[in-house]
Amino acid sequence: MRLVVNGRARTLQPDPGETLLETLRDRLHLTGTKAACEQGECGACTVHINGRPAYSCLALSCGLDGATVATIEGIATGDALHPVQAAFIACDAVQCGYCTPGQVMSVIALLQRHPDPTDEQIAEAMAGNLCRCGTYPKIVAAIRQAAAAISASPAS
Ligand code: FES
Ligand code: FES
Repeated sequence: MRLVVNGRARTLQPDPGETLLETLRDRLHLTGTKAACEQGECGACTVHINGRPAYSCLALSCGLDGATVATIEGIATGDALHPVQAAFIACDAVQCGYCTPGQVMSVIALLQRHPDPTDEQIAEAMAGNLCRCGTYPKIVAAIRQAAAAISASPAS
């Protein structure tokens, strides 16, 4: 099967029950995507599949032939952090950091759909990403800051 992961074509032979999370971490060594509950409950494993946020622990790799996958490793541009990454740092929205890659991927997807999200849109988009450290208010602040930065950028 073939996947395009962070813009790079990959040819893989996953085991029948292998999840995308396992493929990313164990075969492709993209360990930025985190394994936590592995039951679709926490969002730590969130990536983009064909441009949409998805729990990689619930997606079977063998069913994704031809898909495009984006992970936390693929969102920066060279040495320049993605605006959402920069906003998480600026707003101190990271404590232990375990949930952060998944949070960032969900925020990027949110801002692609809603460049200036309402409180309700933020709550809905982020409901599937849990943070045991309780950084939620700072994550919302980071979403607001990232939205402003993206709308002010020349490319937006
Ligand atoms: S590890 Fe996938 S949702 Fe928790
Ligand atoms: S920063 Fe620790 S789980 Fe979210």
